[in-house]
Amino acid sequence: MTTRILTGITTTGTPHLGNYAGAIRPAIVASRQSDADSFYFLADYHALIKCDDPLRIQRSRLEIAATWLAAGLDVDRVTFYRQSDIPEIPELTWLLTCVAGKGLLNRAHAYKASVDKNVEAGEDPDAGITMGLFSYPVLMAADILMFNAHQVPVGRDQIQHVEMARDIGQRFNHLFGKGKEFFVMPEALIEESVATLPGLDGRKMSKSYDNTIPLFSSAKEMKDAISRIVTDSRLPGEAKDPDNSHLFTLYQAFATPEQSHEFRTDLLQGLGWGDAKQRLFQLLDSELGEARENYHRLIERPADLEDILQAGAQKARRIATPFLGELREAVGLRSFRETTQTVAAPKKKASKGARFVSFREEDGSFRFRLLAADGEQLLLSRSFADGKTAGAVTRQLQQGDDLDIRTEGDAFTVWLEGACVADSPTFADAAARDAAVERLKLALAPQQD
Ligand code: TRP
Repeated sequence: MTTRILTGITTTGTPHLGNYAGAIRPAIVASRQSDADSFYFLADYHALIKCDDPLRIQRSRLEIAATWLAAGLDVDRVTFYRQSDIPEIPELTWLLTCVAGKGLLNRAHAYKASVDKNVEAGEDPDAGITMGLFSYPVLMAADILMFNAHQVPVGRDQIQHVEMARDIGQRFNHLFGKGKEFFVMPEALIEESVATLPGLDGRKMSKSYDNTIPLFSSAKEMKDAISRIVTDSRLPGEAKDPDNSHLFTLYQAFATPEQSHEFRTDLLQGLGWGDAKQRLFQLLDSELGEARENYHRLIERPADLEDILQAGAQKARRIATPFLGELREAVGLRSFRETTQTVAAPKKKASKGARFVSFREEDGSFRFRLLAADGEQLLLSRSFADGKTAGAVTRQLQQGDDLDIRTEGDAFTVWLEGACVADSPTFADAAARDAAVERLKLALAPQQD
């Protein structure tokens, strides 16, 4: 069985080295496993919750798409798309919103943190909080449930959201599934082995600490950032302590065990920090230089990126469109074509979509036609004085049993209790007429549910 892996990347920033080692690289490695069916997407609807700067949103979508592709994501193997290109996702979000408990969402960490901050500042608890922020977990549940993901690789801060997706999905299954499980229950996947890179100052590398090393911007910028890595003040020739050096931790995240061993030995033997930084730069440049070139090639051809993402959206929608159709059906958003029949003849419906259409003549009398599913007129009724009688006749015909059909030349008539109630059209010959009799019988045959 294949495992469906899905994760989203919120498009508000430019990926840095920490994102690469912590999320992008492991995701690409996982996508190459033979039993993996991976879905990676740009969570640009989520980005709108955090950011109201259109240029930044647009720039970030472009940069993140180019980063993943440049880093080696194979779009033939995986499904790579933008959330906002899948209209089924906001639609599913609404269906889920209607079953998600408000109390559940009140407990979401991100929302609670904003409320706490407001309360602390003596403000209204909901000051500045949008419905987007409040409903963030429902949109994320739709992302995950839309594709029935088994595993959702995320950071620890997102575990609660995956649990909420389970909760909401289960509720929907229970309410509308009638024993069928529409949604698979997703699991958060926390990769313990994945590197959390330290930033320039030794704290976790993060944009909010302003301590990042850029990933693909340029060799010079990467070099400049590396030169700002904080080290201790030991001079060249003095032994360094690799285990207490985040420069060494960064090196290890990209080196082979042999390279790491050699670097460690050299540090212990007094390698100067300046030289150590040069070595780190060389390692990163050799690991990432080619991908950086790919990145710049992609960024310069946004129309090609657009094509790739459109193809990804098409691939995703081949799953999302029919699945959402089933879900709409389940909640009662159904085509009237099927519902009319159930309403008109709840027990015995006219077979294969045949239907009675009533109308009023100019003289005020009532008549009806029986039309086959393809629109062919099977019968035209005689005139009835009132609608009630016409309705009673259609109901009797729908009982379908023991039809009294009498042929007359190349046409036929239908009789009820000794009175002729309807006529067929005239056919080309007797064979055509008999075939039409069969179609009529089929159309009026009682149906088993
Ligand atoms: N909320 C996630 C984050 O900030 C991004 C995201 C959106 C996501 N939809 C998702 C992650 C679905 C996993 C699955 O990191």
